[in-house]
Amino acid sequence: MGSSSPLAGRRVLLGVTGGIAAYKACVLTRLLTQAGAAVQVVMTPSATRFVGTDTFAALSGRPTYTEVWEEPGSVLHVRLARGADVAVVAPATANVIAKLSGGIADDLLTSTLLEATCPLVVAPAMHSGMWEHPATQANVRALEERGTVVVGPASGPLAAGDEGVGRMAEPEDILAAVEEAASRGRDLAGRRIVVTAGPTWEPIDPVRFVGNRSTGRMGFAVAREAFARGADVTLVVGPGTVQPPEGPRLVEVGTAEEMRMAVLEAADDADAVVMAAAVADFRPREAAPSKLKKEGGPPGLELVPTPDILAELGEVKGDRILVGFAAETEEVEEAGRTKLVAKRLDLLVANEVGREGTGFGSEENHAAILSKAGDDEPLREWTKAELAAAICDRLSKMLSR
Ligand code: C5P
Repeated sequence: MGSSSPLAGRRVLLGVTGGIAAYKACVLTRLLTQAGAAVQVVMTPSATRFVGTDTFAALSGRPTYTEVWEEPGSVLHVRLARGADVAVVAPATANVIAKLSGGIADDLLTSTLLEATCPLVVAPAMHSGMWEHPATQANVRALEERGTVVVGPASGPLAAGDEGVGRMAEPEDILAAVEEAASRGRDLAGRRIVVTAGPTWEPIDPVRFVGNRSTGRMGFAVAREAFARGADVTLVVGPGTVQPPEGPRLVEVGTAEEMRMAVLEAADDADAVVMAAAVADFRPREAAPSKLKKEGGPPGLELVPTPDILAELGEVKGDRILVGFAAETEEVEEAGRTKLVAKRLDLLVANEVGREGTGFGSEENHAAILSKAGDDEPLREWTKAELAAAICDRLSKMLSR
């Protein structure tokens, strides 16, 4: 292991909370130190009922802290937070997950993690009922939406002779998640990235519009990932989406023309533009100034094309990296490649739509990543978070050339 691990020479903060799986955190400490990391352990008081502080001190070669007041003369939680390149909480109880989700800082570990800006991995461990409780599920989702990596839990024997979901992931799997989080690190720091998300609404009259079912989830996943990796992100977002992520600079627009103006302005000094928005292709030629009356009969809607923002950017490409998305029902990769070339894109995510459980509104996409350079990823299932990570990996590589 040693120097081949992305953790070699990195500082890992390991938070241990009160569950029987705390004994497995000893193995994790050993794996982290073997990978070359400097491990700083912080335990909650209840964790010390399961494993002693001296055990972790011996394994990590550093004092284990449990209390905010332990280092007179320094602000311990701030020092620990700034001294971490990556943090991991293993095991993470339902209680600590709830506190992290809500921003509660009532002990050394939660105070440190509230101050920390480094990537965070949590490995939940609890009884099935606690894990499956809607409150825990909502807290886990809230953490994931802020970029926290959640590893596990697995199924298997639990405390008190029970069985089910809630068993902490194996130390080797937690190590792999920490390595990945640390290597992703802040590889997009200093890069300016424009991301678009959601639909556009093209007005028919003051209350009606031509729109589509986009929820914004795909663009939000890209914006969240790029922001977590240190990019300066401008998120141009259409109407009626789910809640956008916190962090990126938000520009709210309504129509394709408004999105065009916002994107062109933000793209001016951008390194990359990721057009995940489902921009309407057509709009009513004219929006009626007042609500059309039902008594007037069905309006004859004359539709005209909207500006193709991405194609326009392709014409004045410069050094900017352009990423497009396409929704296709058949010949997905071929149709995608035609668009990649026509719009002068560097990457195109070709989504197969019209299948059950993929595309708009779902967490999963059936997609291929096509690249100008030819290193394509064939059609397969991805979560939106995985697609976002793969796009950012490629942006990071292309931008560092
Ligand atoms: O050609 P098609 O509409 O399938 O291309 C989809 C890609 O082009 C998406 O990335 C979308 O955001 C972008 N687009 C655009 N302006 C439009 C329509 C689509 O930038 N008017």
